[in-house]
Amino acid sequence: MALEGRCFSGTDGLFSRRQLRTLLSSPRCAWLVAGHFEGAACLLIAANGRARWGRLYSLAVDPAYRNRGVARKLLTASFAWFRAQGVALVRAEVKSDNHAARRLYASLGFTEDRVLADYYGPGHPGIKLSRPL
Ligand SMILES: CC(C)(COP(=O)(O)OP(=O)(O)OC[C@H]1O[C@@H](n2cnc3c(N)ncnc32)[C@H](O)[C@@H]1OP(=O)(O)O)[C@@H](O)C(=O)NCCC(=O)NCCS
Repeated sequence: MALEGRCFSGTDGLFSRRQLRTLLSSPRCAWLVAGHFEGAACLLIAANGRARWGRLYSLAVDPAYRNRGVARKLLTASFAWFRAQGVALVRAEVKSDNHAARRLYASLGFTEDRVLADYYGPGHPGIKLSRPL
């Protein structure tokens, strides 16, 4: 909760305590934590019929630890976890004005597939991303 609060505001899709608790107990979900919560990533296995894919559900690095490669390491480790779960595609969403995250995802081979109007609330579009594993 503390890391989320330091990294996201209301229109960024901030998790509530209840959502975090549900995600922590879900068998389809894993959390990667860097150091002593300098950063964290929430990973989900999503499914629709027989299709399965990985979903990066949250990625946050404490402002005091940014620009040191923490997010890059968390995402690289997430790819290994997803592969071990047998998924061949990872998806994510990012706020269109989040240029740091868009650059990070692009540098790790994600493509921007489409714009999601009002995804983060009225006037706050998102972008849907994907990357084969
Ligand atoms: C986006 C975020 C996760 C990046 O974390 P980080 O640990 O500082 O990122 P890294 O040091 O691993 O940077 C990796 C790459 O991301 C990009 N990047 C990171 N911060 C950036 C910035 N402020 N501006 C532009 N590009 C940036 C760069 O491509 C960088 O590679 P480079 O250093 O070789 O140029 C972090 O800023 C954060 O937690 N932001 C708030 C929450 C958020 O937006 N999460 C993502 C939601 S989808």
